[in-house]
Amino acid sequence: MEGYETGDPRPVLFDIEDRVGIITINRPRQLNALNREVLESLRAVLEESRSNASLRALIITGSGPKAFVAGADIGEMVAMNGGEAFSFSEFGQNVFDAVERHPKPVIAAVNGYALGGGCELALACDIRIAAENARFGQPEVGLGIIPGFGGTQRLSRLVGKAAAMDMILSARTVGAEEALRMGLVSRVVPEGAALKEALAVAAEIGRKSPYAVSQAKRAVREGLLATFDDGLGLERELFAGCFSHPDREEGMTAFLQKRKAEF
Ligand code: COA
Repeated sequence: MEGYETGDPRPVLFDIEDRVGIITINRPRQLNALNREVLESLRAVLEESRSNASLRALIITGSGPKAFVAGADIGEMVAMNGGEAFSFSEFGQNVFDAVERHPKPVIAAVNGYALGGGCELALACDIRIAAENARFGQPEVGLGIIPGFGGTQRLSRLVGKAAAMDMILSARTVGAEEALRMGLVSRVVPEGAALKEALAVAAEIGRKSPYAVSQAKRAVREGLLATFDDGLGLERELFAGCFSHPDREEGMTAFLQKRKAEF
């Protein structure tokens, strides 16, 4: 399913399969490194998929057998001055924010290297599934820079300060099993099976209430940015909001009638 080169010249591919949008970063010869063109295309695909009511989930993966995304494009960054670097960081942060704030769940199918901006892209997703050959890392300090697409903030919030400092300051990479132990990913599957597993998870999510799924994503995401009490307040509000949505009636009625809910 994964591990092939399409020969398609477009930097980002978007396919729809069974109500799931599959976004493929498609520069396999550069290990899917993120240049401005890729980031622009990714932003456009995210924007376009927001309002597509038929889509239940998104998957982000990389083209080719070796990489999810091997980072921001070093060839493009080499000539940047401080001002250009600031804009590049702001732009990348905005695109990855659009992943995190997307109303639909976003699953990263990590099929190889997820380094620098690639690790940061995976971090912006809601669920990360790693193939056994996946490697995660923030190697920026070895290039004389720091992570600039949200890595210093998202990695530490996800795996804690100690593990994030260990990775970011040393630039060491971690394999899939270590990433699982750290809580950086939630599942590890055999090499070549990340996309298949992501599709299975997306199908499972797709059978649930899309409204409830989007509200649950919002409660977790926004709650983590708030105080505990404010997070509970948000949860109460969104919980109550579900009671005015037809999915709640269908879900509960179906349970009581001992049938599968149709959302
Ligand atoms: N930016 C630009 N080009 C990149 C890239 C990046 N982040 N990562 C890989 N590439 C390119 C390589 O330059 C090479 O291009 P070439 O064939 O024209 O020389 C091609 O992708 C293949 O990479 P290569 O290094 O030959 O593969 P490898 O299997 O020997 O090593 C990596 C794989 C991922 C370990 C290595 O490519 C690497 O360290 N990449 C940079 C990772 C990084 O620092 N990312 C953070 C950037 S902020």
